[in-house]
Amino acid sequence: MMTAVTAPPAKTWLVVGASRGIGHEFARQLLERGDSVYATVRKPGAEHMAAFCSYDDFAFHLHTNTIGPIICAQRLLNSGISIGTTIFISSDSGSTQNFREKEDGFSAYSASKAALNQMARHMAAELKRKKSETVILLLHPGEVMTDMANVDLGWEVEGQMTPAESVSACLKTIETKGLDESGTFWTWDNKVSPTVDITRSGCALINYQPYPW
Ligand SMILES: NC(=O)c1ccc[n+]([C@@H]2O[C@H](COP(=O)([O-])OP(=O)(O)OC[C@H]3O[C@@H](n4cnc5c(N)ncnc54)[C@H](OP(=O)(O)O)[C@@H]3O)[C@@H](O)[C@H]2O)c1
Repeated sequence: MMTAVTAPPAKTWLVVGASRGIGHEFARQLLERGDSVYATVRKPGAEHMAAFCSYDDFAFHLHTNTIGPIICAQRLLNSGISIGTTIFISSDSGSTQNFREKEDGFSAYSASKAALNQMARHMAAELKRKKSETVILLLHPGEVMTDMANVDLGWEVEGQMTPAESVSACLKTIETKGLDESGTFWTWDNKVSPTVDITRSGCALINYQPYPW
């Protein structure tokens, strides 16, 4: 007997910061599978040097990594558009439980990601209380070979991936998550990050996997 296989319905995504790196790869893979993508870039058509753009100003880190993403999400949530899932790309550098003390020069970056994690947890808690159907997730994409990672760090970086490898794993992880996981922080390969206590999110403790690092 033949069974008709129907493709999953196409989804619509907004990718903020899609000019290069992980954001660009999300847009590419989502379009390739037939979804619709709205992608934002600051300078359309701009050539990008493969050099790390370093923000040595703490306020600038907060503006870029914390305030910008949160305000953007708040405006979307208040726009009247039905939002299924909002994913904030965070970082293991922002982990409070797994402090990465060797990351000299990353303190402003780490602090901005820790603040992003905490803001997103509050956003998820409030939305849950208000019976919203929107899922809020935080995602650590892994060590990914992008412009951002093209810098001499002074320590060994293990397990680096291409953007394609990271994003295809991230998409699989995102699609296993629902309202029960709203406000939680995951690695690209579907492991729980220690930054957010999974037991408080209503998720079964049995799903807990130790963080790999
Ligand atoms: N790569 C890694 O190993 C790694 C690890 C952990 C977390 N992450 C996180 O993953 C996310 C993407 O990083 P990536 O590796 O893809 O970096 P990337 O290749 O350097 O790309 C950064 C993207 O962010 C945009 N952007 C930078 N500053 C901005 C600003 N002030 N306002 C608006 N847009 C801005 C850039 O746009 P322009 O082209 O206009 O500059 C570009 O699209 C970041 O949140 C990063 O913290 C990456």
